[in-house]
Amino acid sequence: MTVSLWGGRFSGGPSDALAALSKSTHFDWRLAPYDLAGSRAHARVLHKAGLLSEEDLRTMLEGLRSLGADVTSGAFVPAETDEDVHTALERGLIERVGPEVGGRLRAGRSRNDQVATQFRMYLRDQARLLSAKVLDVVHALVEQSARHPDVAMPGRTHLQHAQPVLLAHHLQAHAWALLRDVDRWADWDRRAAVSPYGSGALAGSSLGLDPEAIAHDLGMASSVENSIDGTASRDFAAEFSFVAAMLGVHLSRIAEEVILWSTAEFGFVRLDDAFSTGSSIMPQKKNPDVAELARGKAGRLIGDLAGLLASLKGLPLAYNRDLQEDKEPVFDAVDTLEVLLPAVSGMVATLSFVPERLEELAPQGFSLATDVAEWLVRQGVPFRVAHEVAGECVRVCESRGIGLEDLGDGDLAAISEHLHPGVRSVLTVPGSLASRNAHGGTAPVRVAEQRAHLLHQLAAH
Ligand code: ARG
Repeated sequence: MTVSLWGGRFSGGPSDALAALSKSTHFDWRLAPYDLAGSRAHARVLHKAGLLSEEDLRTMLEGLRSLGADVTSGAFVPAETDEDVHTALERGLIERVGPEVGGRLRAGRSRNDQVATQFRMYLRDQARLLSAKVLDVVHALVEQSARHPDVAMPGRTHLQHAQPVLLAHHLQAHAWALLRDVDRWADWDRRAAVSPYGSGALAGSSLGLDPEAIAHDLGMASSVENSIDGTASRDFAAEFSFVAAMLGVHLSRIAEEVILWSTAEFGFVRLDDAFSTGSSIMPQKKNPDVAELARGKAGRLIGDLAGLLASLKGLPLAYNRDLQEDKEPVFDAVDTLEVLLPAVSGMVATLSFVPERLEELAPQGFSLATDVAEWLVRQGVPFRVAHEVAGECVRVCESRGIGLEDLGDGDLAAISEHLHPGVRSVLTVPGSLASRNAHGGTAPVRVAEQRAHLLHQLAAH
């Protein structure tokens, strides 16, 4: 049976071309559980407003229950002729309870307020589910850092050796970024937990229905203040999508490092067999495909956000059919992260670091030159002079192909009157690390403290 929602004014049905263009059941079917929850809540407010008898309410709720069971089991699916999830489920209800009772449900609501509400409900659930998966990545990073609490590595800026840092410090830096993404979704949820139900097509309902009651029934904190805003706004979807894209970018930055670190040239890390792939032709290959896909998917997530914003930018208020284009990009972001996050957490959890290699490179590239300069400052030398003296040390070492620690007492004295053999106390990686002991620094004691804070945050979620 085809249920047309606007038979009265029309003499014929839609053309096949329009129907094909219009159809959205192949992507909006995932909203079905939320549509059914909305219908149950709507039936109850219709009853409260005196628009549905006790008996009709019971019949309707029973029909919705049996329809819900059939949706879950797969016994009820959208038909070729159903335009969207809302139309399909209305057909299903009418098939179960008849047009007399089934036809009463549509009073005082529109697909415009339905879809805006259901999309919010769906995304709120997904934000929670995805956040749990992000926390798994955070957990894997913290575990790895706890496994290597004292391993030094070359910290880089501009991808050049900069200063030695702890591997744990570096890994934990990624953890904080991911925790902020989880925070972003939690914060977003306060704005998303507002129900447009009761806004009708755009102007609100005249039937004495209570939007606040529906909002609470649907687990929302309140109903929208403005029915036009309720039906026309999609910033909740764009903001969700921004968090997804930001998260994708964070995962991509981890991925890029794993890709570099697993090369023979870096040799910092070995990938687990279960999280790497071979080559069909080159027998020696072990490729970081998880990381490469993470890097690639970030582009896709950014595209999802950009596409959605482009769809929204020219729309006059209130609802326009363009808004049907809001769902696929955001659903794509959800689906992408759903498969990506477990792969990234598995890859990170199973990385085996090569401490000897990391430690070997930590002091290279004159990465202790800043320590020389800061030692001089502690001796009372102005930093401008100290910077020059340390630079001169590097120049001399570079010309002789030696390291800073190889400068003899005579060399030091020749470079500057301020230099004396005491400077060698800071020319070790552990000495350098330990000296950076202010809040947030790379000193082992601070990094351990930071890890405790991360574990505390993880436990709080
Ligand atoms: N399927 C539509 C959407 O996703 C909801 C239907 C509203 N259609 C309409 N002609 N007012 O936005």
